[in-house]
Amino acid sequence: EYPDFVKIVEVGPRDGLQNEKEIVPTGVKIQLIDMLSGTGLTVIEATSFVSSKWVPQMADHTDVLKGIQRAPHVRYPVLTPNMQGFQDAVAAGATEVAVFGSASETFSKKNINCSIDESMLRFQEVINTAKVQQIPVRGYVSCALGCPHEGQIEPSKVAQVAKRLYEMGCYEISLGDTIGVGTPGSMVKMLQSVMREVPSSALAVHCHDTYGQALANILIALQMGVCVVDSAVAGLGGCPYAQGSSGNVSTEDVLYMLHGMGIETGVNLPKVIEAGEFICNHLCRKTNSKVAQALNRT
Ligand code: HMG
Ligand code: MG
Repeated sequence: EYPDFVKIVEVGPRDGLQNEKEIVPTGVKIQLIDMLSGTGLTVIEATSFVSSKWVPQMADHTDVLKGIQRAPHVRYPVLTPNMQGFQDAVAAGATEVAVFGSASETFSKKNINCSIDESMLRFQEVINTAKVQQIPVRGYVSCALGCPHEGQIEPSKVAQVAKRLYEMGCYEISLGDTIGVGTPGSMVKMLQSVMREVPSSALAVHCHDTYGQALANILIALQMGVCVVDSAVAGLGGCPYAQGSSGNVSTEDVLYMLHGMGIETGVNLPKVIEAGEFICNHLCRKTNSKVAQALNRT
């Protein structure tokens, strides 16, 4: 019933760090990514090519991407909201990108300063250009289980946006519970609706853990045939344009659950915990991972 293997998409260096108030030194970001590269992870979202006025924390995107030691088995996607971001990313050596849309009009405006329809035009251009250069594009749908401004979002709206991104050429659609308000109840309804439009093999879930529902929501998604899970080392994260949102579900906790269920990931949990300790030391903060807390208790 459950998949035998789940692919983890590590988003800590991007989603995790974009929301930090203190600018994290570029060297620390690079070291974090390099540590994560040695854990068995195969996808590490490295940074964002967005406006530094909007997200100052990601202003060093080019230096980060050029500074990391690329492991041959790891892909390092970066966020690109428009052609400018895409061109800058490619110039910096990006070989995979992600566009990020929303199922909420208000959130789209606040996050990327355009309507959903406008964003699709921008993404189409990015995807078309990427295709010519053989650069794979991932697509996000934010606010899939709720919006900080509009509240509940109709599952059919999520399905519509997911379908558009998939048909435009995104190879994988990541359904984002941006503010972590979803429950297994809303996750089931949303996935049922999306799966009528996009095959489950092309879906990922991206759960923030604001209300402590992330692992339950992921478990339900796995039961329904999703086999790609986004998570952040140490549970870092949150979107700066989604007030009150907290970190992503921690990679450590997801790994512990999956491995406990006999599901393979290819990722070494103790090594991820080490990377989590490294970044938490730099941020002077306690890890958000329950598993890391439990295993470090002496
Ligand atoms: P805009 O102001 O509407 O852009 O921003 P514009 O096209 O009108 O241009 C205005 C200025 O921005 C110009 O510079 C452009 O060159 C510059 P000026 O002439 O004034 O000096 N500009 C850029 N600079 C750098 N990189 C670019 C770029 N594009 C234009 N790519 C824009 C539109 C999308 C750029 C802006 O709104 C933005 O950067 N937003 C980013 C928001 C963001 O990063 N949010 C967090 C990521 S999303 C998220 O976390 C959710 C997710 O995790 C899933 C989930 O949890 O659900 C993915
Ligand atoms: Mg996110």
